Amino acid sequence: MRAFIDGIPKAELHLHLEGSLEPELLFAIAQRNNLTLPYASVDDVRHAYQFSRLQDFLDIYYQGMSVLLYEQDFYDLTWAYLERVARDNVIHVEVFFDPQGHTDRGVPFKVVIDGIHRALEEGQKKLGISYRLIMCFLRHLSEESAFETLEAAMPYRDRLCGIGLDSSELGHPPSRFERVFAKARAAGLKAVAHAGEEGPPDYVWQALELLKVDRIDHGNRAMEDPALVNRLVQDGMALTVCPLSNLKLKVIETMQAHPLRRMLDAGIIATINSDDPAYFGGYMSANLIAVQTALNLNKDAVITLAHNGFRGSFLSETEKAAALARIDAFVVDAGTGD
Ligand code: HPA
Ligand code: ZN
Repeated sequence: MRAFIDGIPKAELHLHLEGSLEPELLFAIAQRNNLTLPYASVDDVRHAYQFSRLQDFLDIYYQGMSVLLYEQDFYDLTWAYLERVARDNVIHVEVFFDPQGHTDRGVPFKVVIDGIHRALEEGQKKLGISYRLIMCFLRHLSEESAFETLEAAMPYRDRLCGIGLDSSELGHPPSRFERVFAKARAAGLKAVAHAGEEGPPDYVWQALELLKVDRIDHGNRAMEDPALVNRLVQDGMALTVCPLSNLKLKVIETMQAHPLRRMLDAGIIATINSDDPAYFGGYMSANLIAVQTALNLNKDAVITLAHNGFRGSFLSETEKAAALARIDAFVVDAGTGD
């Protein structure tokens, strides 16, 4: 099963590039930028990654990304992620970045997007990984700041597929961003939002009804509301589920308690993703293996999850069909063994 999970062609739809900054690269970039970190060693950094809620993680995440100053830093970050997931047979990625986490420190938007975009283009050419780029608004900041960020992004509109909403969920409902989402959608951008990770089912409703999202990030707590589950199924709305993240941030108590199987049984298009793999202890295959083992998922469920990654993606229908055919060819090749 492990080899099967490693080998099956995959799409990743919920990945914060800044959350893929591994301690080794964090140190290397800090050193070349003449910055001092509050950690003595890579081990020391890994030791600090103990969280009891989302905010504990976010504090460390914003501190980590503050070493990123130059175009090359953003390139190296993105390239390291792509090289890593190529080994997991990830063939398509839809990645997030947090421009305000950089522009608020004085790093120009152009520097951030140029570095990321150059690596994504190179990943497409050299690793065969197709991509979409999604810019997230930090929800703990103001609506005005989100509007400014959208404005700053407009010269780069053709490099962006969509917008998202992340950071501290509790106390920052989607409703606050209704207008800026409407403006972004009017510019033809897709919309996604983190909702129902720590926040209540009502935040998922708001993401659907007010932000008019095309996909929900996390969505775990939607399972508390049967009418919401029906709505997600009827809309064919994909959820980007992140098992190791959920465990690390104590959204679930144990992996055995993960709602993934209930999501699939209800008919929701649940997908598996790594969120912030440098902080949560695993990339795509590790997330699939963790949830497959804990929930005792069979091969058909794993195939469904791989399919869902593409069904829930922003690829064209032709591209989706080609990816699904690649999965099916892999399954036939792998035969009937475990
Ligand atoms: N939730 C909210 N904001 C985030 C996350 C997350 O899981 N990862 C990075 N920013
Ligand atoms: Zn996330």
